[in-house]
Amino acid sequence: MIERAKREFGNAFGGTPEWIVRAPGRVNLIGEHVDYNEGLVLPIGINRSIVLSARINSQRPPQIRVRSEAFPEMAVIPVDELQPLPSKPWSSYLAGVVAQFQRRIVAKNLPEVSMPRLDVGIVSDLPMGSGLSSSAAVAMAFAELLDAILATRLTVLEKSQICRAAEHEFAGVPCGLMDPLCIAACTADHCVLLDCQTEKYRLLQFDDLDVVVLVADTKVNRGLSSSQYAVRREQCEAAAEALGVRLLREVSPSLLAQKADWLDTVLYRRARHVVSEIERVKGAANCLQRREWREFGRLMNESHLSLCHDFEVSCPELDAMVEIAQSLPGVYGSRMTGAGFGGCTVSLVDKQSADRVQQQLATEYLRRTRIEPELFFSRPCAGIQILRRPAIVGR
Ligand code: GLA
Repeated sequence: MIERAKREFGNAFGGTPEWIVRAPGRVNLIGEHVDYNEGLVLPIGINRSIVLSARINSQRPPQIRVRSEAFPEMAVIPVDELQPLPSKPWSSYLAGVVAQFQRRIVAKNLPEVSMPRLDVGIVSDLPMGSGLSSSAAVAMAFAELLDAILATRLTVLEKSQICRAAEHEFAGVPCGLMDPLCIAACTADHCVLLDCQTEKYRLLQFDDLDVVVLVADTKVNRGLSSSQYAVRREQCEAAAEALGVRLLREVSPSLLAQKADWLDTVLYRRARHVVSEIERVKGAANCLQRREWREFGRLMNESHLSLCHDFEVSCPELDAMVEIAQSLPGVYGSRMTGAGFGGCTVSLVDKQSADRVQQQLATEYLRRTRIEPELFFSRPCAGIQILRRPAIVGR
């Protein structure tokens, strides 16, 4: 990947990059559609990543020029006139990150600096639009780069908030904090247990070599995810308001049961997903610490049912992938992961059965749907890293 990144950079801009930043994707083991309700989530970093390479340029007026293998046409971001570039999605994230940095610098009263003019190349082996956070990985890699160049010394949380705001304002997706924070905070052999209410996280050890995480890309993307994502978020807010609380995190399972008839059927089901999913994350975090994989898997299976019936963000291909996985010996549990309406599933599998499970899942999914899936295993991997930087970094 690093060699590919240097080559891509050379082809686009000539010469070699001064900076190289690698950001992994993430897969969420459990805790779906709860981050924007200030719930708990339990993701890991995975062994697929994006690599961003960069060099200061001397363009006038100041520009950030971006080229990625995936969208080979060069995008030009005028630093003094930042705006979303809907036809060039990744460049929109970068523009959004620059805009947020400018605001932070003013808000934190940091010495004023001008944004660097940069040439940026992006390569990736992370499937895009599959619920593995490729966009947050691009945004976070760029935030890490700007933080290093500008010496702003932002915390992991501050950089994650910048990426979340960039996605809200420049991509129009009202996402939560999970993706950027996980990408920055994840650590080899650990899950990130993030409490989105306090915005604090703990790393929980996940180093049992007898279990593996299997990610299965259904290869469908219904494109519904951003519009329906916003609808789900609004429904959660409407449910909270009807229950007289600020957010669904403040609703316990017993309170929801008592006040069930304060909500119409749809809002009740949305709330029931969020409230029960937060409880499942608490349970899963305990199982992780005790290595109780059967119970962990059972909670994953329940999570899928809840996402499918109560939150209605699954689709036939995700359901097929999950159903097949759950029927195979050696699989502790399986569920859709990410925003839904396509993308990936995640399964927890006994190591000894892993190769057989991978092969049977791929074959049976292909037979049922006529779509060739992409499956891979991952251990929990390390977060964002700056792999190359110039010897002297000026502000
Ligand atoms: C997307 C969003 C996250 C989160 C998940 C669903 O990945 O970016 O913030 O809401 O969907 O859990």
